[in-house]
Amino acid sequence: MENNNDLHKGTFLAANIYSKKGILLLKKGTVLTQVQIDMLDKHDWFYEGEPLPSVDRLSVDIQPTIISENDDPPIQQAYDQAVTSIKKLFTNIQSSLKNKVNAVFNQFSSVLEEVLEDEDQAISLIYDVKHHDEVTYQHSMNVGLVAGVIGKVLKLPEDQIFLLGKMGILHDIGKTKIKNDILKKPERLSDEEYETIKLHTRYGYEILSEIPNLNPMVAIGALAHHERLDGTGYPDGRTADEIPFLVQILAVADIYDAICTERDYHEGRSSFVAIEQLVKEAEMGRLNQAVVKEFVHYLMKQYVGRNVLLNSQKNAVITFIPYEQPHRPLLKIGSEFLDLKKVPTVSIQDFAH
Ligand SMILES: [Fe+2]
Ligand SMILES: [Fe+2]
Repeated sequence: MENNNDLHKGTFLAANIYSKKGILLLKKGTVLTQVQIDMLDKHDWFYEGEPLPSVDRLSVDIQPTIISENDDPPIQQAYDQAVTSIKKLFTNIQSSLKNKVNAVFNQFSSVLEEVLEDEDQAISLIYDVKHHDEVTYQHSMNVGLVAGVIGKVLKLPEDQIFLLGKMGILHDIGKTKIKNDILKKPERLSDEEYETIKLHTRYGYEILSEIPNLNPMVAIGALAHHERLDGTGYPDGRTADEIPFLVQILAVADIYDAICTERDYHEGRSSFVAIEQLVKEAEMGRLNQAVVKEFVHYLMKQYVGRNVLLNSQKNAVITFIPYEQPHRPLLKIGSEFLDLKKVPTVSIQDFAH
């Protein structure tokens, strides 16, 4: 291929690059490495937004432009405002919930709309937002956004996607009835304290059931988001057919965000650690396998071409995502390929910085 003449080590990509078959090869914003240029060399590729090229169009000359790294992520301001409103909703709950909930939904929905506009970038948009000190409200916001993204990935109708968003922002509202010294306790909880925390599901259901005209699924989401398909969850030990599908999606979004951003007890961990956990729980029969697989496939597709750090402390580039086991991609280490499907002891820890 001759179409990499304009690309050199260190180039910032202003648009996603796709293979001719439509596989995302490199993500917008990537700083090109030599390995990636070599990888592009082996593909017929084109920039996003270009019509699918015929081979001789591939030499089309589109100059990548430099993206400023200092700009706030595009949703930062609207995201911050929505988190502040969620905080008010949570902290003045008795007086404001009935009156304010729709206003907060509207504010949240405009962020979700913006996030969903570019499905390929949706998750990175959410997690590029600068962190808040108020972990609970940011978690509520993120679970709403991630649940909405999963709904879109699963091609659910729009009303279900936005309902998932509402279920997400209110799923942990029952925590407002639990004392902070238990909620924020850094040490291991006693059995009794853990039982108290579990009550946030029932409290949430009680609070939300009293709001007139609220879709009942929002309250059921608060009640059942810690239930697991095999009956090992709480508070009622429901099994698969007793957990509504939307709540099964909510559980996946909840776990994903808890692992990526919860920082009270540990540093936020990477998307790859969250993916491993989701796959493990799906394989154990605790989470909906189809939901986890589609979501993980969607996430991993965005990471093609990215440099990652392995548990062996080696750096590698993600080169291909298999549909059946999307969490076990084909990697390139130097000039060698490593198929993670065949090497179960190796895992991806994080992006390489
Ligand atoms: Fe919860
Ligand atoms: Fe949660």
